[in-house]
Amino acid sequence: LARGDLAADLAGRHVVVSAGGTREPLDPVRFLGNRSSGLQGYALARTALARGARVTLVAANVTLPAPAGAEIVPVGTAEELRKAVIEAAGSADAVVMAAAVADFRPAVRRPSKIKKSESAGPDPVELVRNPDILAELGERRRPGQVIVGFAAETDDVLANGRAKLARKGCDLLVVNQVGEDLAFGRPDNAAVVLAADGEPTEIPRGPKEALADVVWDLVITRF
Ligand code: CTP
Ligand code: CA
Repeated sequence: LARGDLAADLAGRHVVVSAGGTREPLDPVRFLGNRSSGLQGYALARTALARGARVTLVAANVTLPAPAGAEIVPVGTAEELRKAVIEAAGSADAVVMAAAVADFRPAVRRPSKIKKSESAGPDPVELVRNPDILAELGERRRPGQVIVGFAAETDDVLANGRAKLARKGCDLLVVNQVGEDLAFGRPDNAAVVLAADGEPTEIPRGPKEALADVVWDLVITRF
């Protein structure tokens, strides 16, 4: 047994977890980013390792200690995260997209630092869409492969979550409400897991490890 009271019920399985938040550079010193710390993704990786899985952890700008035994693939941008996740997903039984992926990136990545003296006023930053990695995983899914997304919502949490689950073509969507002092950078989390094939599962506020274990329970029943 990998952990006292729990069977190694992910033994022989390869899982891919993305964690953290992407950063989209404007120039060599500036980026557009988000507030994801990587705590939930790392908790998913640790619990999967404890349950016997081989874990590929695609980490976008995370400063947390590496879970022992995980294969860590550090990435910066959404494009880099996409490449790493799609490649690792080729041999994976499950992919969990806990990373916060920037929806847009600056159209131009300037090779040198933008100077305020360059123009009279502040120039607008032109943005372009990033690829939707979760939707692509849903399209490429092999039979038996389980795809899990996370959704951070501030309003109409359940309605937005259901629409998103359908749009992304994933098996499970972990929906949590975010706001000023909810979820980001905190050790605990609360969520509802929506399933493409069944009833929602409420996860009460608790440690991110506890939420992670419920996600793996739900994944395992779908293998
Ligand atoms: N995601 C992704 N690629 C993107 C954007 C998001 O793979 N370009 C993934 C996230 O990792 C997460 C899920 O999609 O698992 C939901 O992310 P979210 O930002 O809530 O969904 P969006 O479709 O981007 O919708 P919106 O931001 O408009 O709410
Ligand atoms: Ca988004």
